[in-house]
Amino acid sequence: MVIFGASGDLTKRKLMPALYSLYKDKRINKDFSILGVGRTEYNDEDYQNYILDELKDFVDSDDQDKTAMEYFVSRLHYLSIDPSVEADYEELLVRLQELTGEERPSNLLYYLATPPSLYGVIPLHLKKYHLNGKQTRIIVEKPFGYDLKSAQELNRIYTSAFSEHQIYRIDHFLGKETAQNILAFRFANGIFEPLWNRNYIDYVEITAVENLGIENRGGYYDASGALRDMIQNHLIQLVALTAMEPPVAFNETDFRNEVVKVYDSLTPLSKVDLDEHVVRGQYTASDKQKGYREEKNVSPDSRTDTYIAMKLGISNWRWSGVPFYVRTGKQMPTKVTEIVVHFKAAPHQMFHCTEGKCPKGNTLIIRIQPNEGVLLRVGMKVPGSGFEVKQADLDLTYDKLGGIPAGDAYARLIEDCISGDPTLFTRGDAVEASWRFFDPLLKYWNNSPDAPLYGYPAGTWGPLESEAMMNEHGAAWTNPCKNLTNSNLYCEL
Ligand code: BG6
Repeated sequence: MVIFGASGDLTKRKLMPALYSLYKDKRINKDFSILGVGRTEYNDEDYQNYILDELKDFVDSDDQDKTAMEYFVSRLHYLSIDPSVEADYEELLVRLQELTGEERPSNLLYYLATPPSLYGVIPLHLKKYHLNGKQTRIIVEKPFGYDLKSAQELNRIYTSAFSEHQIYRIDHFLGKETAQNILAFRFANGIFEPLWNRNYIDYVEITAVENLGIENRGGYYDASGALRDMIQNHLIQLVALTAMEPPVAFNETDFRNEVVKVYDSLTPLSKVDLDEHVVRGQYTASDKQKGYREEKNVSPDSRTDTYIAMKLGISNWRWSGVPFYVRTGKQMPTKVTEIVVHFKAAPHQMFHCTEGKCPKGNTLIIRIQPNEGVLLRVGMKVPGSGFEVKQADLDLTYDKLGGIPAGDAYARLIEDCISGDPTLFTRGDAVEASWRFFDPLLKYWNNSPDAPLYGYPAGTWGPLESEAMMNEHGAAWTNPCKNLTNSNLYCEL
């Protein structure tokens, strides 16, 4: 395996811990070699020591096994080149020949964990040095492209160097157990699917918010923003899992066809949508946190979004008229990713209930993280005389399903790639379909320097305008409590 961007954040935080766990759990052959490639200068030994130190920080202490960690890092190598310079690939070729003992190394997996500006360059250089043989595979991080045009151009570049089945566009949300569980929940049960449509569902919320800022990723983030970083890929994947038709089978073709169909059915954003149904925010300083514009490598007059809430529509028979509200933000009160499906209320209420506690429609909450699980809110009779009804929760936490902790998304996806299964990776046409939907919004922001960008103090739930957008539908965002505990997840209950 060759990791480009080997001295970067993603490699130390996610890739190395994932690869270590694959080795430790005997999910990969122990005769692997990993060649880290980057501009920072290391020799093999320095790199091994550096990764060993980082593993101690980023692998759960329960999973740290000294012998396994030492063996793992002994399989690491490092090559310091500039991946943007074609001539440097001569050195890469020689190094790979030494490591594999082959004249034309081909049994290779590339992982591009570099800044996005290198995504288009690396495959062309690999091709030039015939490092794109039929057995090779390439994993490329998101965001794949900057807009529709650049994504199309990237697709052209990748398919000129590799065939589609060698290209793995990663979206790590699809590697999350609980994201996959949406499919099991919907399609392994007979009771939800008949209700899963416009006749019974009032609206859907999809939230993926974080209580962290941009850490030390200012350079990348300031050119990207929340729409490109989260909405165009992770959030829209969750929309697809929630809204898709049942695939004929769970395989790379049928599943990914259904994803593309959802993207193609997204209702194009009208002028009213652009003005009123997209709320863009940026965090400002609060007592404890600095504001976005004070972050390292961020321009002091940056207009980059760190928060987006928007209303989407899906124009097909199942979903016509049902709003999907999605939101993401940095520096929110807590980290949570969840899907909240609001069913319509019963047509007639014959029971008494205390003002403010009356059951509305049932709510189904699919929690992707943390406290992975599924919660269904139902009206129940309050014990005692009379007949009063209040809301109660049927709550299944995922760890009750056998006590196995949810696996790491990166480990799952890298393992899938090694075994040649691209089902949980994004196909070229899907990336383009998603950008096609968001492109008018990007153009609108580009051409309207006065389009609102609302400030919100770090540590709050985002701009008030976002609540107002929900209120139009007679709804409000479902905000989990700041300190999540299993027994008290939602503050307002
Ligand atoms: C990444 C984004 O893709 O996803 C980050 O670039 C974000 O900005 C992260 O923090 C969130 O992933 P997770 O798995 O921690 O929810």
